[in-house]
Amino acid sequence: MQTITTIADLRRQVAAWRRAGERIALVPTMGNLHAGHLQLVEEARRRAERVVVSVFVNPMQFSDTAGGDFERYPRSAEADREKLAASGTDLVFFPSQDEMYPAGFENVTRVEVPGISGILCGAFRPGHFVGVATVVAKLFNMAQPEVAVFGEKDYQQLLVIRRLSEELCFPIEIVGVPTVREADGLAMSSRNQYLDTEQRQRAAALYQALRAAKERLASGETDMAVIEVAAAASLEAAGFRVEYFTVRRAHDLQPATADDAELVILAAAWLGEARLIDNLRLRRD
Ligand code: PAF
Repeated sequence: MQTITTIADLRRQVAAWRRAGERIALVPTMGNLHAGHLQLVEEARRRAERVVVSVFVNPMQFSDTAGGDFERYPRSAEADREKLAASGTDLVFFPSQDEMYPAGFENVTRVEVPGISGILCGAFRPGHFVGVATVVAKLFNMAQPEVAVFGEKDYQQLLVIRRLSEELCFPIEIVGVPTVREADGLAMSSRNQYLDTEQRQRAAALYQALRAAKERLASGETDMAVIEVAAAASLEAAGFRVEYFTVRRAHDLQPATADDAELVILAAAWLGEARLIDNLRLRRD
């Protein structure tokens, strides 16, 4: 596995692969890799001859870069490299902040996907999806992959990226991979590290609340507010601070009505210092 830190070297290598007729899959990450990320790499390997994984903690998608969330975001470069080498990754791209944002990121050209970026997580983390969309567009231009693979745990992010790719005409197939879960159902996430032992035991309540809501929808409940209020109350009772628990249309995240068939239940809630997000899809006939 090659480790590359500059855009010029990345371009040289992907151009050589392309000349040899090989397809390239990109897996963008912020590192601190777990089994969920390795599942993305596995999917990428199924879809292309060459797999590029980027590891970059993108300051532009954090609201408090001067301290807090960005600085404490877990970083584990050496362990990441070992996991990626063992997973069959061909190239890991580890750019510095200067390589990605040579003129800083405050006044950089930015990519905004309006509408969907301002709701749910975007409402609680203003500017977050502009940071995500901008860095992903930059990575797409740098790696020029045929395929890019993302986790469905970040469902809203996946929709933002699908729209940016379509509307900016990137010739890239965007692939979503189902969430990988711990044995008790908790979605794998780098942020789970912020949970202490006692919180970790309670954290699966988020998945249980999603499952309960899914069952109520499947058994014919059509009043979304009833489901949402009950789920949020059960999470608050379990010690979470709920940002949102909501049933939405799967394709555009607008509030679901009784007539919608393709649904997604999404939740974001704090448990101690950890902000957890998760979702479940369902189809109603
Ligand atoms: O999902 C993530 O890890 C990040 O938001 C991404 C897509 C790598 C962009 O920084």
